[in-house]
Amino acid sequence: MKSSLSFPQKTTANGAPESVPLLDLRRQYDGLRAEVLAAITRVCDSQSFILGPEVEALEGEIAALTGAACAVGCASGTEALWLALVAAGVKPGDSVITTAFSFFASASAIVRAGATPVFVDVDAGTLNLDVTLVRSQLQDRRARDRQAAPTQSGKVRAILPVHLYGQCADMDGFDRIAQEFEIGIVEDAAQAIGAEWGGRGAGSLGVTAAFSFYPTKNLSAYGEAGIVTTNRAEMAEHMRQLRNHGSPRRYYHREFGWNGRMDAIQAAVLRVKLGHIADWNRRRHEHAATYDRLFAESGLSSGQASDRSSGQTSNQISDKSGVPVRLLARSPQAKHVFHQYVIRAQRRDELRKFLADRKIGSEIYYPLPLHLQPAFSYLGLKAGDLPVAEQAAREVLALPMFPELTEAEIRWVVESIADFYT
Ligand SMILES: Cc1ncc(COP(=O)(O)O)c(C=O)c1O
Repeated sequence: MKSSLSFPQKTTANGAPESVPLLDLRRQYDGLRAEVLAAITRVCDSQSFILGPEVEALEGEIAALTGAACAVGCASGTEALWLALVAAGVKPGDSVITTAFSFFASASAIVRAGATPVFVDVDAGTLNLDVTLVRSQLQDRRARDRQAAPTQSGKVRAILPVHLYGQCADMDGFDRIAQEFEIGIVEDAAQAIGAEWGGRGAGSLGVTAAFSFYPTKNLSAYGEAGIVTTNRAEMAEHMRQLRNHGSPRRYYHREFGWNGRMDAIQAAVLRVKLGHIADWNRRRHEHAATYDRLFAESGLSSGQASDRSSGQTSNQISDKSGVPVRLLARSPQAKHVFHQYVIRAQRRDELRKFLADRKIGSEIYYPLPLHLQPAFSYLGLKAGDLPVAEQAAREVLALPMFPELTEAEIRWVVESIADFYT
């Protein structure tokens, strides 16, 4: 493979990069072009375009990477979430607890399974679903059920934590809750391929788990694709049928599934990239360490916040440090794959505009928490109900992050942020 670190960057008269994109897939493509085109040609030559040997091979390779016993390729991460929820036993009328701070699909997949999302706030350090608040929610529901005043929404059948930005949610905490309340954990691992919790791979930590291979993800297709993982062979078999119109054999339909199949060209491309994912994730880690160091040296940030899973409470909302930039907490049990490098910034929107004027890419994941999305107004939640997620939505900013990013580019991003605040 051609080294993907040797991209000539255009610089301005003062030596700064002319621009720094949030994500530059072309640099990856330049290094992989021959391999990827050969893989696509292989599928064209086979004339087998849907499921088939490429998809089966990818399923085996993803199972091995995640440590899960089985993997089932499908059409997208959204489809994967729906399959994961239904296979985990979520039925129409049930409720599923999830985070208010994620991409819409984490919650819309619950609705598509016929269930009601119960939004819970996030930990202020990691911005992942807060275990303590989930436990309180379940205890309250249990108490109301005992008083014969059941909640309007149905039984909580599953908890769906999202491994936000590539860092696993507190899976020790969720495991304990799962046992105590006899509830399944469905991982939304869309952003977390290769991530670990306590040495175990994301995708092997819950009953089922969903990954996305959307083009911006750490492992990305040349179109739409996703995969579901599970340790339970019977659930894998159920998902295989669900992704194919609920059909155990051709033209016999046991239940209502859907067309959620993966196409073979995507599988072939993903198999090429899979050979590089460990190296790419390692480089993302190095870039994050460079950002951390430069932020600390610049005096802009006071380092990472603590999180609950490290035994320290972090769910305070106000920032008393006075520094303009705060870094998110890293859980000691987590191997983070930095799908995104996200800061919390004072005057975030002005900063974003300042960076855009210097042609530095940034993005807000996510500007409006899920409980305030118009589509979920039927749940009756309002501003102020989940304050940590709401404040995060006002402060978060994702900075350029991809394996081929250079140190000079990271340096320019941090210098530019320092220029903005001084
Ligand atoms: C957390 C999360 N869940 C679900 C999805 C849905 O994946 P997809 O876009 O492949 O349907 C995404 C990606 O966009 C995501 O980031």
